[in-house]
Amino acid sequence: MLDTDDIGSNNSSNAHIEDLIATRISRRNLLTGAAALAAAGLVPGALLSSAPAAANSSRVRKLRFEAVPTSTADTFVVPKGYRTQVIAPWGTPLIAGAPAFAEDASNTAADQALQVGFNHDGLHYFPLKPFGNTRGLLVMNHEYTDASQIYTAAQGSTITNDAAGREKVAKALAGHGVSVIAIHRNRSGSWEVVTDPRNRRVTGTTPMAFSGPVTMSHPLMQSTITPQPRGTLNNCAHGVTPWGTYLACEENWNGYFGTAEASWTATALEQRYGITRAGFGYNWHVAEPRFDLNVNRNELNHFGWVVEIDPAKPESTPVKRSALGRIKHEGATCTERNGRVVVYSGDDENGDYLYKFVSSAPWRRLRAQGRSPLDHGTLYVARFDADGTGAWLPLVHGQGPLTTANNWVDQADVLIRTRLAADAVGATKLHRPEWVAVHPKTGDVYVTLTNGSGNNAAVNSGRDPNPYGHIVRFSESETDDTSFQWDIFIVAGDPQYDSVNVPADQPVFGSPDGLWIDDRGIVWIQTDISNSSQNRADRGYDRIGNNQMLAADPESGEIKRFLTGPRGCEITGVIMTPDRRTMFVNVQHPGESTTFWNNQFGAPTVANPATVSSWPFGGGKRPRPATVVITRIDGGEIGR
Ligand code: FEO
Ligand code: CA
Ligand code: CA
Repeated sequence: MLDTDDIGSNNSSNAHIEDLIATRISRRNLLTGAAALAAAGLVPGALLSSAPAAANSSRVRKLRFEAVPTSTADTFVVPKGYRTQVIAPWGTPLIAGAPAFAEDASNTAADQALQVGFNHDGLHYFPLKPFGNTRGLLVMNHEYTDASQIYTAAQGSTITNDAAGREKVAKALAGHGVSVIAIHRNRSGSWEVVTDPRNRRVTGTTPMAFSGPVTMSHPLMQSTITPQPRGTLNNCAHGVTPWGTYLACEENWNGYFGTAEASWTATALEQRYGITRAGFGYNWHVAEPRFDLNVNRNELNHFGWVVEIDPAKPESTPVKRSALGRIKHEGATCTERNGRVVVYSGDDENGDYLYKFVSSAPWRRLRAQGRSPLDHGTLYVARFDADGTGAWLPLVHGQGPLTTANNWVDQADVLIRTRLAADAVGATKLHRPEWVAVHPKTGDVYVTLTNGSGNNAAVNSGRDPNPYGHIVRFSESETDDTSFQWDIFIVAGDPQYDSVNVPADQPVFGSPDGLWIDDRGIVWIQTDISNSSQNRADRGYDRIGNNQMLAADPESGEIKRFLTGPRGCEITGVIMTPDRRTMFVNVQHPGESTTFWNNQFGAPTVANPATVSSWPFGGGKRPRPATVVITRIDGGEIGR
């Protein structure tokens, strides 16, 4: 009954943040008087600065929209005075020659490779000068495909070892990856996908390059089927570099591999990355030996990386930047400190860690030398301490325990085995670290820890197994790269089930995932309650409704619900045009098999894919992941 990412693979004896959180929460309650703040409608925020700031009523209220209630309807709801438009749904023709979307899912793999992919996730809007507020490149990840949605009733969802099976795997691979989509706002005010030479699909088969310490000549990288690495998979969140490229991250890539060979067993390294004979049940290996663990084992090591894509150069080869480590990268949030690029990345699995990469020199200098700032620098992993301090522990060959004497061969070895290296240096286990966002004014770093549903360790936090998650915030040292101070920004949940930790009038929400802070300092929080828990009372989620997006103001402590999504979806990916008058939000997996709705309407199947949801086009049509464009009817700034 757990999600795959709730099942941890970290058997190290490292400390878990769950054991520290009670201390931090009680300290916060002491400092800010949680009950008093709750009565005033304020969350106990502003923790790193002095607590009373949260209660300063003279501050300007940033969030002036009218909050929306929770929803279980199969619709997308925004505040009064706002309107929405759906663009670039799955299957939208994108590249020259692409056929129209076929409502019966009969588009072939070749068609899909020319159309917008499935399951929209992290996204960015690159303005195209000189009309950047009305014309840009929308670049987005497509996390995974759903076998009950992308095949026809006649095809079925089972992968067979024949030409039909290979075509189905090919279609799934073509539905993965990244889309570069040129869009503009037309004279009537609607946004539309436009023909542009930069429109591009990067898929599960696109040729890739490696750079940094790990090269294809490494023994663990050699593969007869893919001597040149191909494709990127399970691209969840993303990053944007200061030099204008897009970083797609490989998250639950382990689930695509499997084997029918009963004698196959995982090595210690493979176990640490959650590799099993069954995978997540995709069964691609049945038709495609590339994904058979017994045939093409080293293909595994081609995944788990951050992939740099230049949206301005459609002919460029995407590059897997190995110096950023091999984990289940949720995202790769970039910021700049003292001219150097800093990249934060959560490893989203229960009990796994938070990482940071810092370039060795100012990124402009490295680029002027023809070197990538993402190839030269230091990778660190976070240790959180109970006193509210923390340390970034370097993952550098020869330092600490990562020595030749301890069987660490070189830096490439440290990077291919990043998780084991992080275990060895004593990183702190977290509740599934998802997105990271950096406050544009304070430089504070915010991290969503989506939930600890899979963690049943005995703890005294009152939040075991912590089904709701929380948002941790830290501020980096101004004088070194290796120390920080942390606290808890928001404890998510429903006070009906956790009145100790969740303020009575905080809007109910759980499983924060997507996170972005706009240039005004508004924190946008998106939720991804798993489909096994959504809407269910026995999971404490009956009053929370469908997945949603909230806005929080760290200065005033205010939190308001801004939108709610349709049934069975997650809300993920958010960005605005530079004038803040158009917002883009992705709706991923609307209508996916969801226990609560399946019990009423039956699970979606290839024959009837719309049992849970028919969003966005309604009328019993199959649900389609899509981007929602949000504007204010009066043309004003979003959110205020
Ligand atoms: Fe793909 Fe961790 O969310
Ligand atoms: Ca996510
Ligand atoms: Ca998630």
